[in-house]
Amino acid sequence: MTRKGIILAGGSGTRLYPVTIGVSKQILPIYDKPMIYYPISVLMLAGIREIAVVTTPQDAEQFRRALGDGSRWGLSLSYLVQPRPEGLAQAYTIAEGFLDGAPSAMILGDNIFFGHGLPDILRAADRRAAGGTIFGYRVADPERYGVIDYDTAGAVRAIVEKPARAPSPFAVTGLYFLDATAPERARAVRPSARGELEIVSLLESYLADGALTVETMGRGFAWLDTGTHGSLLDAGNFVRTLSERQGQQVGCPEEIAFLNGWITEDDLAAQARDHAKSDYGTYLMGLIERAASD
Ligand code: TTP
Repeated sequence: MTRKGIILAGGSGTRLYPVTIGVSKQILPIYDKPMIYYPISVLMLAGIREIAVVTTPQDAEQFRRALGDGSRWGLSLSYLVQPRPEGLAQAYTIAEGFLDGAPSAMILGDNIFFGHGLPDILRAADRRAAGGTIFGYRVADPERYGVIDYDTAGAVRAIVEKPARAPSPFAVTGLYFLDATAPERARAVRPSARGELEIVSLLESYLADGALTVETMGRGFAWLDTGTHGSLLDAGNFVRTLSERQGQQVGCPEEIAFLNGWITEDDLAAQARDHAKSDYGTYLMGLIERAASD
């Protein structure tokens, strides 16, 4: 069965107060586009076209307005509501009907990934039909994340959520490729001490069955956090620096849809015209000229 995508774009965004009192975190700009464009682009690079966006009840409308039904990018987008931020694993029970027995790739709506070879590792995870695949990334402050505990032979022994002393510098990133058993496993997860259905508990269930592959994203990748005022600004500056230097976009769904053959040149041209007054629109128009000269 074809893998479906989930973008978890709920949460409370309290670390960004007062910015996120009136607007969802995942709609905020990362330089020139809404934050959610970046995780959508990652799922698109994995070849996924059927995606559910999980939001809070009050923010659902903002996302519908920003993204629509996805057809302009050759996608099918649907919207699901998480009534309260009761944990990442809850996304799988909320999305059970949407998944309808399909394997999934879930990405957190505030995670930004960038790096050479990213499409290859995404496609490889997609091809692994049974079990789950997650990605470990070395960070300076692993205590803030789910952390991978390796044994001396380098096998994954456990994953520990926000440990006081991290067993390794490798954090679990917010991208999870799980097979069709995820909703059933998620239903068995009980709330943690902080009252959340933890993604780590769900991953532990795969690990206990010997069904979890942990890939490492090396130092050539960027995995950026956007949850605080400083990290939000840093992520925007990162995207600006890179895209202005290279003349190539980071996280541009129109470009990926076009390169994947999901939309035509005419579709792209129409969208470029809609964005004519911004550099983003100029970039889209440039893609058509580039395709013609290649
Ligand atoms: P967090 O960064 O853990 O939390 P948050 O976004 O609510 O922010 P804060 O800590 O500032 O209050 O969430 C990670 C991502 O997962 C983010 O994109 C929000 C999303 N999320 C949900 O959609 N539902 C949830 O139940 C939780 C806990 C998070």
